Amino acid sequence: MLSKIIIEQLIAIVGESRLLLEADDLKRFGIDRTTLWKPAPCAVLLPGSIAEVQAIVCLAGQHNLALVPSGGRTGLSGGAVAKDGELVVAMNRLDQIVDFNPIDRTVTVGAGMITADLQDFAEKQGLYYPVNFASTGSSQIGGNIATNAGGIKVIKYGMTRNWVAGLRVVNGAGDILDLNKGLVKNNAGYDLRHLFIGSEGTLGIICEATIQLTRLPAESAVMVLGVRDFPAIMDVLGCFAADLDLTAFEFFSQQALDRVVEHRGHAKPFEGVAPFYALLEFETARGAISDRAISDRAMTLFESCVRQGWVLDGVLSQSVAQAQNLWKLREDISESLWHLKPYKNDISVRVSRMPNFLCEVELLVEQQYPDFEIVWYGHIGDGNLHLNILKPEALSVDQFNAKCVNVSSEIGQLLAKYEGSISAEHGVGLLKKDYLHYSRSPQEMDMMRSIKRAFDPRHILNPGKLFD
Ligand code: MLT
Ligand code: ZN
Repeated sequence: MLSKIIIEQLIAIVGESRLLLEADDLKRFGIDRTTLWKPAPCAVLLPGSIAEVQAIVCLAGQHNLALVPSGGRTGLSGGAVAKDGELVVAMNRLDQIVDFNPIDRTVTVGAGMITADLQDFAEKQGLYYPVNFASTGSSQIGGNIATNAGGIKVIKYGMTRNWVAGLRVVNGAGDILDLNKGLVKNNAGYDLRHLFIGSEGTLGIICEATIQLTRLPAESAVMVLGVRDFPAIMDVLGCFAADLDLTAFEFFSQQALDRVVEHRGHAKPFEGVAPFYALLEFETARGAISDRAISDRAMTLFESCVRQGWVLDGVLSQSVAQAQNLWKLREDISESLWHLKPYKNDISVRVSRMPNFLCEVELLVEQQYPDFEIVWYGHIGDGNLHLNILKPEALSVDQFNAKCVNVSSEIGQLLAKYEGSISAEHGVGLLKKDYLHYSRSPQEMDMMRSIKRAFDPRHILNPGKLFD
């Protein structure tokens, strides 16, 4: 509960209508896409400028109030959950284009800008912002940066980190830091910008970002292939990646396809079935090489994969609409599972280690948790697997969650053996902090705590997230 004096001080900073105290608002702003925690913030603030964010942080420092920075709240790890009476600082109003520079091909935006709006703005300038994923319609740039969001084009364009040319943040001491200022080359000491990317709101509140844009891609074609088994997916990846400039290489299992077809009513890619499917995308024009030549090349590769026995069936899009429909089979999986409240894992190993790793995970689940249904999908071209466990009807939610905690520990041990990561792209938040030690050494954990102390000496920024 906030005292009357603090409420008055907060109103003096943001204005009365920008301090939300109604139960509905607290519920809405206190949670992300996870459902494991009850939202319980003490208030929600909607600052309209960096100066207001700074004043909020200074006030919070004086009164020892915990702050939870909040974007589109599309996160999957509880990073934006406020469950312990924190003040939520929602960036919705900082959603403007601040500056566009066509020579540098950069755009500076408020942290609250919706990702899809940035993509649209870039396109209107004849440019492209390539970080793309299913929730671009509601996720915000600040949140994407705080979690270093990945998505479906990482194989070609990398993660959010690759596109951040500058950041304005307010750290936990209330200082405004202007980091990198849009420079391409800047070797003047430590690049602090990169510490904030993926810091999940624990080091500072991201207020503004200068984003690098790139040239618009040529038209793309999409192929969906039914694949014999998981190792064959890796063979198919090797075969296509050697010859085509892939912009995506995703995979999903038959179970995932069944769910998305059932839930969304999408058409299946082809009649037959396969244990796994690969979805690949490539640009159909490259310099002087014609569309036809690249598509013919893709068909030749497809035939060779069929001859090797890796691929059972496949389809190549013949129009933009067909390409979009094929993409829906992959992009809508997450949403199609949501009502089943899956226990989500978001893990990565080096691409070369993936077949052995996956076999070991499957064996582990088969032997120890035979009643669990696993729905696999993910960004196989980046070594990133999403393992979603569905609750068997016979188990209560609590029994199921308790068992899943054991699965996560066992997968954590496997990840340590394979030198992988417990979070490839969703972040650690509240959900994975108990497993962080499987991916980070005690020395790394100590250094992370020291860095946190340096930027947030009063420990007011998103406390309890990432680590305790
Ligand atoms: C995806 O790849 O679909 C997203 O990361 C969301 C998810 O894993 O559910
Ligand atoms: Zn993903």
